[in-house]
Amino acid sequence: MSQRTPCPSTVEINEVAPRDGLQIEARFVPTEEKIRWIDALSTTGLRRIEATSFTSPKAIPNLCDAADVVMGIQRRTGVDISVLVPNLKGTERALACQVDEINLVMSASDSHGLANLRMTPEQSLEQFAAIVDACQDSGVFINASLSTAFGCPFEGDVPETRVLRLVEQLIALGIQGITLCDTTGMANPVQVKHLCDAVLERWPQTPFTLHFHNTRGMGLANALAAWQAGITRFDASLGGLGGCPFAPGASGNVCTEDLVHMFAAMDVDTGVDLDALLEVAATLPTLIGHEVPGQVVKAGKSTRRYAMPER
Ligand code: COA
Ligand code: ZN
Repeated sequence: MSQRTPCPSTVEINEVAPRDGLQIEARFVPTEEKIRWIDALSTTGLRRIEATSFTSPKAIPNLCDAADVVMGIQRRTGVDISVLVPNLKGTERALACQVDEINLVMSASDSHGLANLRMTPEQSLEQFAAIVDACQDSGVFINASLSTAFGCPFEGDVPETRVLRLVEQLIALGIQGITLCDTTGMANPVQVKHLCDAVLERWPQTPFTLHFHNTRGMGLANALAAWQAGITRFDASLGGLGGCPFAPGASGNVCTEDLVHMFAAMDVDTGVDLDALLEVAATLPTLIGHEVPGQVVKAGKSTRRYAMPER
């Protein structure tokens, strides 16, 4: 009988709103406002911020100012700056800005890979081999995000065996960390627990991050299932912004402040100052020009108390 994994007492939060959040917004957030916002986020105790992506500006016009953003933000000890990168050209642009981490992106399914990146998973792996070479001696941490790892909006089920084979190939290439992404909120907690158990058992030394979208309201339940399997690293997006512009039906990530609130309520240490994070979350509607799905910023923390109604 397998031993029960203890639920971790500490987790790390990787804030992805400046990348996953902004890439799908209707409004271009001016570079100075992005910088101010990321600087505010980096004082809240987040372990890592995915600040932008070095993708084709034609594909993702909202992040066409990637280099200016990375060069403009304050770098703080203990807060790694990561950027999403799809290919060698993006890697070269990212390395020129002295990022701490590059987050390579590929799909677990052919059709999403072609729609999003114009590459099959095999073609992405070829790019990654060249990228690992290019990063030698740079000291940059190389993570890879596997989109559609829990289901593809075009193809449906993505078999777990396929995901495990791709993870194996990524690790063989020298990729140091892997993020399993539920790109369009198709995962359920039982599926999440199963895949997390499988990867943690096979690759106990590899840092795995889980990236959930709340498209069908299962984001926090999926994060809980991953945590119960022993996962300690989570992507999340302030306000619950986010979504892939090339995945039909995509909508926001699991909301950072709601995730931090859940962990805090369970006495799990995220290192994040929730009050400070909520203050930054409250500025979002002004920054992006509309209301956001996050719930705790509206309801207040579960410790909030009301005066009894007067009779
Ligand atoms: N950064 C900047 N420009 C890039 C680039 C990068 N990383 N990669 C390619 N380009 C430019 C090329 O220089 C070329 O420019 P030109 O037309 O002026 O000559 C143009 O983009 C086309 O290059 P090509 O290599 O043929 O790329 P493509 O058109 O097949 O697009 C990607 C492939 C991966 C670059 C593009 O699909 C992309 O950036 N996708 C990002 C998707 C994404 O971020 N999705 C959301 C996150 S999951
Ligand atoms: Zn995402």
